[in-house]
Amino acid sequence: MNMEYTKTILVTGGAGFIGSHLVRLLVNKYPDYRIVNFDKLTYAGNLKNLTDVEKAPNYTFLKGDICNLQEMQDVFEHYDVTDVIHLAAESHVDRSIEGPMEFVMTNVVGTVNLLQVAKAYWTGENHVFHHVSTDEVYGSLGSEGLFEETTAYDPRSPYSASKASSDHFVSAFHHTYGLPVKMSNCSNNYGSHHFPEKLIPLMINNIVHKKPLPIYGKGNNVRDWLWVVDHVSAIDAIFHLGRVGESYNVGGLNEWTNLDLVKHLCKLMDQKLGRAEGENEELITYVTDRAGHDMRYAIDATKLETELDWRPSVTFEEGLEHTVDWYLANAEWVEEITSGSYREYYQSMYDNR
Ligand code: NAD
Ligand code: DAU
Repeated sequence: MNMEYTKTILVTGGAGFIGSHLVRLLVNKYPDYRIVNFDKLTYAGNLKNLTDVEKAPNYTFLKGDICNLQEMQDVFEHYDVTDVIHLAAESHVDRSIEGPMEFVMTNVVGTVNLLQVAKAYWTGENHVFHHVSTDEVYGSLGSEGLFEETTAYDPRSPYSASKASSDHFVSAFHHTYGLPVKMSNCSNNYGSHHFPEKLIPLMINNIVHKKPLPIYGKGNNVRDWLWVVDHVSAIDAIFHLGRVGESYNVGGLNEWTNLDLVKHLCKLMDQKLGRAEGENEELITYVTDRAGHDMRYAIDATKLETELDWRPSVTFEEGLEHTVDWYLANAEWVEEITSGSYREYYQSMYDNR
């Protein structure tokens, strides 16, 4: 055990969108913790998300694959890992429809690999394996109701099936072997450093470049949006104060149809870019729907609010404005991503859609 630090937290997927926000929070808020960011640096992992903390004395980055048993064992052994916050995953639903196997490998096999290593390495008390998951495991809602922690799992895309499977393995390791697990299931995140394959950053980027804004189907599917900074503050609360063996839903009671959201973004960006009112909205284009497109997600976060006193810190309008401002101020970050293999991805997803 490295006596300099009170905990050594292995954050998997810490170079991705949510992971980088979480690493930043942990490194700055807990100088007495060592934060080991373990990430494969897939297309979605980007060390430029973490330039502000890369020199912090309590931060270490390791490139590696959670599917590789030897690598995971070496990390636990070498760093004496006391806790895990597991975010590494393939995260994009459209990609899972094109190729499910990668999702099975990382999200299912990789998670079980990590569970096995934690189980083998940890003896005694005071460890936490926090698994970060999604509300998509609950399936799709009609116009009424909210997902609760007790809602039956009903995953419907290859992505959500792989995340549901990983959630079941996490629970099974708790029930069967007593591994001290905690789990969180969050709604759609948005914010800075979001890879521009997802709805909000893709639309922001297309508006900037006056490209068509591709709305799947009629645009009446509903998502419940939460600022990424509020998601990582919920992870912080659950990791530290949540009950072992429990899962917590995370969301902001902030439902938008995709069409209303994109129109709202268009208006905001008309102002930001000094364009005429309504100019951006003219870019909206309706394209072929996503296969098996879930109609509505909405989270009941009462358990998290009442047990752990968590609340979102910003309104959606504030969070979205902050996000748009970040993308406009960080054109270079977007440019680096969208100039490479993203172009091929974009063409294959959107040409002839
Ligand atoms: P992301 O795609 O932006 O980042 C995933 C990260 O995992 C990347 O840095 C990638 O390099 C890394 N990674 C992928 N495969 C790996 C492997 N085999 N070994 C090690 N690292 C690997 O994803 P995100 O949006 O930041 O999501 C993070 C987690 O949160 C995921 O588990 C996702 O299911 C969950 N989640 C996401 C949302 C959301 O709205 N984005 C909402 C709820 C839950
Ligand atoms: O609910 C949590 C989930 O949210 C996370 O677990 C996933 O990792 C994350 O990717 C996200 O999944 P979604 O499929 O909801 O997000 P996405 O941004 O891909 O799409 C949001 C909605 O916008 C969805 O109804 C599909 C629609 N859409 C998306 C894209 C990329 C469009 O209409 N046009 C688009 O070009």
